[in-house]
Amino acid sequence: MERLQKVIAQSGIASRRKAEEMIKEGRVTVDGKLVTEMGVQVRQGAKICVDGKPIVRENKVYYVMNKPKKTICSLNDEHQRKTVVDITEINERVFPVGRLDYDTTGVLILTNDGEFANEIIHPRYHIPKTYELIINGILKTPEIKQLESGVELDGIMTLPAKVWVTNKDFDKNQTSLELTIMEGRNHQVKRMMEYFGYEVRKLNRKSLGFLMVNDLRPGEYRLLKPFEVKQLKRLANEGKLK
Ligand code: URA
Repeated sequence: MERLQKVIAQSGIASRRKAEEMIKEGRVTVDGKLVTEMGVQVRQGAKICVDGKPIVRENKVYYVMNKPKKTICSLNDEHQRKTVVDITEINERVFPVGRLDYDTTGVLILTNDGEFANEIIHPRYHIPKTYELIINGILKTPEIKQLESGVELDGIMTLPAKVWVTNKDFDKNQTSLELTIMEGRNHQVKRMMEYFGYEVRKLNRKSLGFLMVNDLRPGEYRLLKPFEVKQLKRLANEGKLK
């Protein structure tokens, strides 16, 4: 049994709040009966109609993609750039979980499960994310220490992070490093580097928790195994702030 507004939201026709409004407005029937109160539980096979039209209940699906460059993490783009969903042949109405920038590559989850997505990206749940990056300068030891203890972005300190410098190239004046962060604030990695005046030349999300995409070429994706979905949920909840 699941709550009616959740089932409507999962069908993709409205957000949960909008679904609640639809119910209140008397636009929803369950097995032919009008329902206007909130929180009604519906069984798996119930026939739910909105404005007289039956909704389609989609199975929940979970994919991991190796996001290629030059794709955006939203469902449409005003500049007609390709979205990460455009480059797939997935039949369900999936969306990307969180955002990677247009030129960022690497681990990205696609799903039609809004609740799962929320657990992965909500600031209260913390899943470690490791990024590989190249910056235009030589990172100094005090800067590494500060990155690890936290820098102030928009008046709020970042959570403790881990830094692993993999190469300092003095000829090209650039540093390659891995940065593990526990949050997913907007453009967080680029802004953490900007804090010290560096620009990010290359950015790849190497891992999200235990998930990696070494087996996938850019643009390729695969279904997550049920145990991976379960483990991701567990990981998010273990890192949940009380
Ligand atoms: N941080 C960024 O700045 N960009 C990304 O795409 C991901 C993390």
